[in-house]
Amino acid sequence: MYTSPLLSADQLRFFEENGYLLLPDFLSPDQCETLIHRAGELVEELRKEWDSAIFTTREQTRTSNEYFLTSGDKVRVFMEEDRDTGSDSHRVNKIGHALHDLDPVFRDFPRSTDLAVIAEEIGISKPGLMQSMYIFKQPKIGGEVSVHQDATFLYTDPLSVVGFWFGLQAATLENGCLWALPGGHKLGLKSRFKRDGKGGTCFEDLGETPLPTEGYVPLEVSAGTLVLLHGLLPHYSEANRSLLPRQAYAIHVIDQQTHYPAENWLQRTDSLPLRGWEN
Ligand code: FE2
Repeated sequence: MYTSPLLSADQLRFFEENGYLLLPDFLSPDQCETLIHRAGELVEELRKEWDSAIFTTREQTRTSNEYFLTSGDKVRVFMEEDRDTGSDSHRVNKIGHALHDLDPVFRDFPRSTDLAVIAEEIGISKPGLMQSMYIFKQPKIGGEVSVHQDATFLYTDPLSVVGFWFGLQAATLENGCLWALPGGHKLGLKSRFKRDGKGGTCFEDLGETPLPTEGYVPLEVSAGTLVLLHGLLPHYSEANRSLLPRQAYAIHVIDQQTHYPAENWLQRTDSLPLRGWEN
């Protein structure tokens, strides 16, 4: 238990009004470096899986769907879609989606009760760490991530997902920082990404209007910044065309007191029960 609030009233108000909050210097340079180093090791350890990644031909789509859809309780590697962009570890797009449970270094990180406090302060009464992603956003080839709401992919009833996005390196306009629509979390959920019952996935439209295309602001951050992202906040990132890397680690947290549907794309086995920040 904690005795004093970690987020100030102004910070909480900002999050409630805008749907995001930047917390600079949340991680130390050493903490950032520990994750960056371990991610580099994991890329090599997963080398044999590089060819299972996201390809574009029809036959390979089936394989990559399977690889993707069964990754919720594993540590898997995903490659940039354009196979001509490089020939080595440079093509790695991300590692996911149960790093935080299965990898010793990521499981230990971050050992900070502050995160449990923050989760409670923003209204998650029983946090469950549903998904982790190590995002490489490689120099020159790191692909864009189009506008989306995280609740599209991690739907709960009622909605509860919050993204804890840790910038491990500076994210700027040049190397593909996040962009977010202030207040856009009040627009409701526009779609759900679900298993289609035939081994694939589909989007179900929910809103009558699409996500706005204008009004987004860049979230430029220094290394070590924690960015909180409301699950309904529209956000995206542009491709990284710079020579600078932009590595980040994201954990998506749901409230375990909500209902998590079986048709959500990400599923975990009973042998890997959801845990909170402190266990
Ligand atoms: Fe996202």
